[in-house]
Amino acid sequence: MLPSPLHQPVLLEEAVSYLVTDPDGIYLDGTIGFGGHAEALLSKLSKKGQLIGIDLDPYALDYTQKRLSAHFTSYSLHHGNFREYPILLQKEGVSTLTGMLIDLGTSSCQIDSVYRGFSFQQDAPLDMRFNSQSGMTAGDFLNSSTEENISDVIKKYGEERHHRKIAGKISRMVKGGKMNTTFDLKEAVSGSVHPRYVTKSLARVFQAIRIHINHELDSLKGALQSSLGWVKAGGRIAIISFHSLEDRIVKQFFKKAALACVCPKEFPVCVCDTTPELKILTSRGIKASAEEVKHNSRSRSAKLRVAERI
Ligand SMILES: C[S@@+](CC[C@H](N)C(=O)[O-])C[C@H]1O[C@@H](n2cnc3c(N)ncnc32)[C@H](O)[C@@H]1O
Repeated sequence: MLPSPLHQPVLLEEAVSYLVTDPDGIYLDGTIGFGGHAEALLSKLSKKGQLIGIDLDPYALDYTQKRLSAHFTSYSLHHGNFREYPILLQKEGVSTLTGMLIDLGTSSCQIDSVYRGFSFQQDAPLDMRFNSQSGMTAGDFLNSSTEENISDVIKKYGEERHHRKIAGKISRMVKGGKMNTTFDLKEAVSGSVHPRYVTKSLARVFQAIRIHINHELDSLKGALQSSLGWVKAGGRIAIISFHSLEDRIVKQFFKKAALACVCPKEFPVCVCDTTPELKILTSRGIKASAEEVKHNSRSRSAKLRVAERI
């Protein structure tokens, strides 16, 4: 029997009801993970409707295949990076999408795994790759980078103000051959900041290194950029983000694509002839309800933004 889902999808009702505008449509779930959103989406589709799921994590795909095959047939699962979905869609003979969902970040199962190295709560090898079959691990990065580079990553993707001190300590531990596990990294952070701030700094440093080695923000920007060419008029793009760096990218992308005029402010009349490509449906973004946060603390930082292709 399939073990019960190891990940609770966030903003499930909200995301699915915004996304499904046509039960016969073709939908993309770029981060299908354990299939929570996918299952709810498929249950809203007709026999003609179709779901294409992508994930970098082969273990999650394996689970989701078993989960969905028990009830549905009109879906396909693919191992890869969602930023490359245009190549996949071309191969599948799909020319337009009715909707696209990206639920960013890590699943609870990835965080809780003692092998993956995503969490500072578990002692594990310093891996942190979504795709455990290829790419640079967190350990590779820390052990081969300059102190300055590590400091820049912690500052840029973690917005951690003690980035220099932490990078200095990491570099000293690297020189001593002691930067191989999550607890080694935890020691470097704990030894650099006041105990009162250590949990927040740990979260920021782990987040920063994960974002860097998985090229997370570039993948998001790439996928958003391609979406304008793939989602058909009336179709929707729904993105769930978990921190301000991701949310800012989504918000700015939607805002720019929704502009009806890009003339300089001092122009008395519009001469640019710009056509907006998106209509924003969630101006401030949707946050999880108090009830959802009570049952799933991971949803506390989630924000859903949806825009419709014009
Ligand atoms: C929050 S989980 C998604 C959970 C899913 N919505 C569900 O209901 O089970 C995020 C997933 O995105 C995957 N992921 C992260 N970055 C990715 C990328 N660039 N391309 C494809 N999958 C990615 C992770 O492996 C993880 O399984």
